[in-house]
Amino acid sequence: MVRTSWMQRIRAKTMALFALAAAICFTAVACSGGGGTATATGPSIAPELVADYIHNVLAADRTAYTKHVINRVKLLEGKPKEEGVLDVESTEGWQQTDGIPLPAQMFRLGSEIANESSDFTYSLISPWNLNDNHAPKGEFETASVEEMIETGEPVRGYQEVGDQVYFSAMYPDVAVAEACVTCHNTHPIHLERYPDKVFEMDEVMGGVIINIPVDSMPADA
Ligand code: HEC
Repeated sequence: MVRTSWMQRIRAKTMALFALAAAICFTAVACSGGGGTATATGPSIAPELVADYIHNVLAADRTAYTKHVINRVKLLEGKPKEEGVLDVESTEGWQQTDGIPLPAQMFRLGSEIANESSDFTYSLISPWNLNDNHAPKGEFETASVEEMIETGEPVRGYQEVGDQVYFSAMYPDVAVAEACVTCHNTHPIHLERYPDKVFEMDEVMGGVIINIPVDSMPADA
């Protein structure tokens, strides 16, 4: 009897110790948050991860729109689509011709709405842009776009715009379909601005940039 209660006390103490250790470990992991800043409201999340998540959603929406809407229209910029079942044209001049926007336009229309309501912004970007809003701006974007096109890999870093520091991540936008290449190469603006640039399949045509406001520039940036 005496022996059992002694064992029980040891066990209870050991369990309490384990619980305490687990709580400390959990707090440490939650607060370290993969490199982000701890806040009073709870565990933080690294800006790298936030940008990756946002990019995933943007890419998924763009693919879904292309696959389930654009691929079903009967006309794409005047050209008949084989699998087309919807009696509508997807065209850059969609507002003038009662058509529907191209995927890149749909993406920009969404970004314009999102960018209005917060410091967080995202956009398409390319040195061979058809739309002026997609031109790389400043030293960081110009250098990053160049690096992304050269390596074919995402580029991440910090930049200061005005008084605000941003974590910025750029993800390559690759010519995955013949239509990407044909449409851009034959576009009147492309022919006028970049007569020597001929896109090829699987080439990085530009990218998506995501800018997340952060409190300050990290010491090692
Ligand atoms: C039918 C024509 C068409 C097709 C197909 C097309 N694009 Fe575009 N793309 C455009 C137009 C027009 C814009 C400018 C849209 C705007 O006004 O924001 C654009 C914008 C872009 C931009 C931003 C830079 C810029 O030019 O302003 C990138 C990057 C891009 N497209 C990549 C692609 C990729 C990759 C594909 C294939 C998956 C593709 N495009 C398919 C017409 C097309």
